[in-house]
Order: sequence, then C-alpha cells, then structure tokens
Amino acid sequence: MNIQWYPGHMTRTRRRMADSLKQVDAVCEVVDARIPQVSRNPDMDEIAGNKPRLLVMNRTDLADPEMTKQWAAYYRRQGYAVLTTDAKSGAGVAKFSAAVRSLLAEKIQVWKEKGQTGRSVKVMVVGIPNVGKSTFINKVLGRKSAKAADKPGVTRGQQWFRVENGLELLDTPGILWPKLDDERTGIYLAVTGAVKDDVVDVETLACRLMEILYHRAPELLVNRYKIQLPGEEEEFDFLGYELLMRAGRKRGFLISGGEIDTERMARILLDEFRGGKLGRITLETPEEYEYTAEDRADG
Ligand code: G4P
Repeated sequence: MNIQWYPGHMTRTRRRMADSLKQVDAVCEVVDARIPQVSRNPDMDEIAGNKPRLLVMNRTDLADPEMTKQWAAYYRRQGYAVLTTDAKSGAGVAKFSAAVRSLLAEKIQVWKEKGQTGRSVKVMVVGIPNVGKSTFINKVLGRKSAKAADKPGVTRGQQWFRVENGLELLDTPGILWPKLDDERTGIYLAVTGAVKDDVVDVETLACRLMEILYHRAPELLVNRYKIQLPGEEEEFDFLGYELLMRAGRKRGFLISGGEIDTERMARILLDEFRGGKLGRITLETPEEYEYTAEDRADG
C-alpha cells in the first residue's frame, strides 16, 4: 500500500519546535489510545531532549479499557507521567493541571526557594494530526471554539495559551513522520483516520482492517456485521476481501449483475470503525514493544 506524505513543511515545523523547546519546562504529547505507540512521532524523543514528559492518552472512549491500563503502566515504567482522557466528552481533562504540577514538582520547589513565586509553568503540547490535540486544548482551556486550522486561509502555527494562573500552554502544529518506512504504521494511522482517505486506496485499507479485526477482535466483526467467520479449514488468497464481501452481502450492498459493492462496504467499515461503532478496541499491545526491546538486548 502506497501512502503519500507531505514532508515539505515538516522540516521547518520541526526546527521551530526545537527552538521553542528552550522556552518550556515540559512537553505534553497527545496520542491516540487505540494506537498509543504508532501515534507518537518517533522524532519526538530527539526533539524533546530530556524535558520532563506528560503523555496524554486520548480517545480512551474508543480504546479497550484494560489495554489502556496496560499501556499507561508501560509508559509510567518508562518514566512518563500519564493522563488518560476522552477529550470529546472532557473525561480526564480536569486532571491536566495537577498532572503537570506533579511532574514538575521539584522544579517548582526550586523556584519557590529562589523566591520566583510568580513564575509560570510552560508546557509545549505536541501530537501528530488527528489525535484530538485541538479538542484536548480547547477542553483544558474550557472553551468550545473550533481550531484555526479548520478555517481556510488561516495559518496554523505555534500559539501560547494561558490555562490559569501559573500555567501556560504552547500549541504546535500536528506533525507526522518525515517518511514512512513501515507498512503496519501506515495502515494503523490510516484506519484510525490520522492519514486522510484521499491518499490511500479505501478498499485495500478496509481489507487490511478486516484482517486486523479478524485476528484481534473477531467477536466485534460477528456482532456488528452478523457474518460467519471463515473456519480454519477455509483458505483464501485475500482473507480481508472475503470478509468485506461477506459483510457487504449481509448488508445487501449489491450492484448490477448481483455483484457485491465492496467499495461501499469498505467506506462503511472504515467510518464505523473510526466512529467506535464496532466497539472499543486497541490495535497494539505493550508486549509487542517489550518483546522487541528484549529481543534487541539479546542481540
Ligand atoms: P487534532 O487537533 O489532533 O488534529 O485533532 P482534533 O482535535 O481536530 O480532533 C480530531 C477528531 O477527533 C474530531 O472529530 C474530534 O471531535 C475527535 N476527538 C478528539 N478527541 C476525542 C476523544 O477523546 N474521543 C473521540 N471519540 N473523539 C475525539 P471530527 O469528526 O473531526 O469532528 P467532530 O465530529 O467532533 O466535529
């Protein structure tokens, strides 16, 4: 699957972020709880240097709650402060300020001892596109306004916001990878909506999503589409396509000649998955990453 990127402005954005880092005390990284690792920009470690970091796992309403707990524990073991949120409803967002102050407790204490009591804590908020960063910031600020980027002609840049006395936020443009070399990453980003559908083939993507669901959460497929899953003895060249056809047939999506309208079914599957209609699911597990790390250590 070929996914196109827009690396042009990203180098510039990255440079500006690195500059702004000098002005902040901590970095808050917003990620999608359904794909916590894939929705992190791998450049962020380098950009953020050794600034204290708060990881906001957003969209927890769409993720598997047990997996969210496991991921939060995984990141805490790695030294991050973690906040789990559903920015759409606002759940968890109220804990943001306390989480930042706890993360920077030692620094704030030092400021106090030096008599710098009026000094504000400054936090840079980063995130790849579509993780809900704007929604999160709006909720933190207690406002409903749409983000500037939604209005044509408005350049979305870095912007400072005052949350409350002593806490300021720097919003940054959502940046994605400069290049994408891992197909799985691309597929996870596309099925969750971080990559726009006009840069991917919708039917191919839906077939891949069918395969992922078949392996990770077959019960969700059966519940939603009332399809019979292929038995172990059945073999298909394209399992995802077969599942797409079965779902399309059940929904009665036919085109002339009795053929199944798989393209229509593909769009519906992606829409319903993104909207959480299939149920709560997390696409990756911490074990996949822990195993890789150990594996590497073993050589
Ligand atoms: P971004 O700044 O990171 O690019 O993302 P943005 O806040 O624009 O959010 C992208 C979409 O994700 C929006 O939906 C937003 O409502 C939704 N969203 C943000 N946080 C959450 C969350 O915690 N849970 C759920 N379920 N959705 C979330 P949209 O369809 O683009 O807009 P709208 O229908 O909400 O108006």
